[in-house]
Amino acid sequence: MKLQKFFARAVELGIEADPRGKEALKKMLKKQKEKYDKLEAKDKPFFDTERLWNPFGDSRIINGTGEEEIRCIAVGIDIEVPEMLLIDRLREKGKKIDAVMIHHPEGRALADLEQVMPLQVDVLMQSGVSVTRAEAQMRPRMDRIRRSIHADNLFRTERTAELLGIPAFNCHTITDNLVWQFMEKTICKKEYDNLDELLKAIREIPEYTAYAKKGNPPLLVNGSGSGRTGKIVASEFTGGTNGPEEFLEEQARAGVGTILSMHVTEKTLDEAKKHHVNMVQCSHMASDAIGINLLLDKLSKEEKRLDVLEIAGFIRVKRNA
Ligand SMILES: [Fe+2]
Ligand SMILES: [Fe+2]
Repeated sequence: MKLQKFFARAVELGIEADPRGKEALKKMLKKQKEKYDKLEAKDKPFFDTERLWNPFGDSRIINGTGEEEIRCIAVGIDIEVPEMLLIDRLREKGKKIDAVMIHHPEGRALADLEQVMPLQVDVLMQSGVSVTRAEAQMRPRMDRIRRSIHADNLFRTERTAELLGIPAFNCHTITDNLVWQFMEKTICKKEYDNLDELLKAIREIPEYTAYAKKGNPPLLVNGSGSGRTGKIVASEFTGGTNGPEEFLEEQARAGVGTILSMHVTEKTLDEAKKHHVNMVQCSHMASDAIGINLLLDKLSKEEKRLDVLEIAGFIRVKRNA
């Protein structure tokens, strides 16, 4: 399959799992088109035309024309300059690698990371949080993220890929949406006698099992194992990066008892303690791997010869779905 087609399918699958819903995303893309059409010619080069079809600011092809035929892909959670050199080294030794799929954003996908954050508002709305309160709390957090990323040296990995001739693409919120949906369905919707039981259920998911065996199990960072779970939500799985810590109080008020998170910040943990919300820090890498695996399972049905090389934190687990 050609890289552009492969990536476009990934975007479609990310849209299908998005908490904002397909229709809202269609509307969002339409508004981008209207905005683009109204621009003066001198401003058009500054508009990112990727936004006319792909609603995920943190997911894009960062090197390549899209015309490359891809069958063997290296897949990693954090791919930076060292991993690009590793891929080049492996290719030099004869390993076939047509492209690299990166989870945590690099290049422009990182520059535009904050664009996906509003979807966290929709995730919270699903547990009963007020949309206006969540939006108001989200804005300053998005500004902070934008300012902080703006100062980064954004294009080192991208440039390395260009120089080494390695086609590369980012799938961030696309696969985080898939793991969010999966956790909501397979973990949050079920009932558990206590938190210990919940943790055991999480650990039974193969990616968590593998990471737990290596000393990186799901951790109960707030709450006691014998305590009840209350309403469980996976509200810290998708949406670019952590939301504002005020979200903790909002969720507590909306009746949330336990939050599943990929990674818990210290400020969020303090708020969880203050508002008596249990928190499970699921293994970050295992969680990201689940989302990527769910995407690869679907894409493998379309590109039957797809061959995956696991690097940089990623482990491949195949499901029959
Ligand atoms: Fe992720
Ligand atoms: Fe991550």
